[in-house]
Amino acid sequence: MGSRSLLPIAFTLLMGVPALAQGPTYGIGRTPTAEEIRARDISIGPTGEELPPGKGSAREGAIAYRTKGCAGCHGAAGIDGSAPILKSRNPTNPNVWARGRILPLRAPFATTVWDYINRGMPLNREGTLTPDEVYALTAYLLFINGVIPEDQVLDQQSLPQVKMPLGDNYASLPDWKPRTPRLKGYPY
Ligand code: HEC
Repeated sequence: MGSRSLLPIAFTLLMGVPALAQGPTYGIGRTPTAEEIRARDISIGPTGEELPPGKGSAREGAIAYRTKGCAGCHGAAGIDGSAPILKSRNPTNPNVWARGRILPLRAPFATTVWDYINRGMPLNREGTLTPDEVYALTAYLLFINGVIPEDQVLDQQSLPQVKMPLGDNYASLPDWKPRTPRLKGYPY
């Protein structure tokens, strides 16, 4: 009973609070500052033009893979952990659709691999890798999938140039007709 009678008072008090932070157009929220947008605007598109300076090779990436905890979840060999596999079990035929996405093999662009690691890994400690570490880890994962040679250095210029094995095939999805399952026959 007591809490019920307090409700109108609480409501009246709360109404004043959002008013302080209201944006003019919709009356909710507020316009983020340029700095707040910059801090979140970290995604990298296919062309890689947003990539930060830095560089790394597969050899450095192999070390980071162990020291940054990747091996703990994905396994020392990338196929023997509790997290999704990062290496094809069938490297001689990388275009075979098998279980697992294997982003460093099947992504349409190498920049997508960089972006994924940079924003999403290591899981629960996202945002802790330096650009050099992300370049190195990307190089390592591309190397173990046979996409680039071990000594190739990836940086702002060379990463977007990497030709992924899928080529333009990522776009060749089957036509979809209404009332049929999407991507019928695909293992997703
Ligand atoms: C705490 C466990 C954990 C750690 C540590 C971790 N990962 Fe992951 N990783 C995952 C999980 C779980 C997924 C799948 C996430 C999903 O599908 O949403 C994943 C997905 C990925 C993928 C995409 C796989 C695919 O084919 O879609 C890549 C690449 C990757 N991790 C790289 C790394 C790298 C590099 C590190 C080290 C810097 C790392 N991960 C550390 C758990 C982890």
